[in-house]
Amino acid sequence: MTVTSKPKASSITPGVFQAGRVALVTGGASGIGLGLATAMLECGMCVAIGDVRKDHLATASAALAHHSERLLTLELDVSRRQDWERAADAVAHRFGPLHFLGLNAGVGVMGTILGSKMGDWRWLMEVNLAGVTNGLEAFLPQLRAHGEPAHILATSSMGGLTVAAQGGIYSCAKFGVSALMESLHAEFADSAVGVSLLCPAAVNTNIFDHDEMRPVRHGDTGYVLPPAIAAEIRDISRQILSRGADPLTFGRQVIAAITRGDFYIFTDGAVQPVLELRRDALISTARAMKAMA
Ligand code: NAI
Repeated sequence: MTVTSKPKASSITPGVFQAGRVALVTGGASGIGLGLATAMLECGMCVAIGDVRKDHLATASAALAHHSERLLTLELDVSRRQDWERAADAVAHRFGPLHFLGLNAGVGVMGTILGSKMGDWRWLMEVNLAGVTNGLEAFLPQLRAHGEPAHILATSSMGGLTVAAQGGIYSCAKFGVSALMESLHAEFADSAVGVSLLCPAAVNTNIFDHDEMRPVRHGDTGYVLPPAIAAEIRDISRQILSRGADPLTFGRQVIAAITRGDFYIFTDGAVQPVLELRRDALISTARAMKAMA
């Protein structure tokens, strides 16, 4: 086994963002996914947006009506493998082979590990981590086989590189996404398929509505707050996030970063101190152990 302490730059995938190329973005009807999908439509690509929310799909479809001949909207719950099979058929039927797979759907529900219940674990892991592995299972064979430029992007989070307060289960899943993509990046070093890991910090999206999206089957939750407090937290969070990056601007930046060959993609350099904190904690322990040896 080769251990790469410093991941290499992403293999550059020229030509992915060209007119006529085909993309699928999950969670593509809102926020970061919609920004990225819109930026790819601006490049002349054929774009499928998959999302679990019919209302988001309808709004996105109306907003992108001027691109309708190159737009496909799909009801897709990334945690359900049968939905992925249907999505693969629908994309192939409408547009042909896929060039860009954007595994972006996620639920940003926060709470402590101690306060969690089984429904919290199942929901967050099924969407945030299995939603990515299901997508790879559905599309990886064709991405590798068609011989044309191809790229896979997965949306992790800064919570996939460091753990924030109340971010326990979310980070368990997002660290998994980071590890998965770092592994694929190493495995595809000599392949025509490029890989990138998106780690946003703050983008102005609907992420704070996710508490209200909990499916009935994951109703066994420890994260129940009195409605007035939940609404207040949501309002404050929305205000904070409204100062975050604009999704479409960020989508265009993501395309530029992938074109440049970046593997890690951040919203901006403001993440540096947070990354340094983790690095310094790890290094200081290693140094102390070395000194004891
Ligand atoms: P958003 O709520 O605006 O968009 C997420 C979309 O994903 C929604 O349309 C939602 O319906 C869809 N979705 C949720 N569960 C799904 C499922 N099971 N199957 C298919 N679609 C599903 O939120 P945002 O912020 O754009 O989230 C996108 C990704 O970015 C997520 O993975 C999130 O964890 C990540 N992220 C966002 C940050 C931010 O500041 N907005 C920061 C770090 C990570």
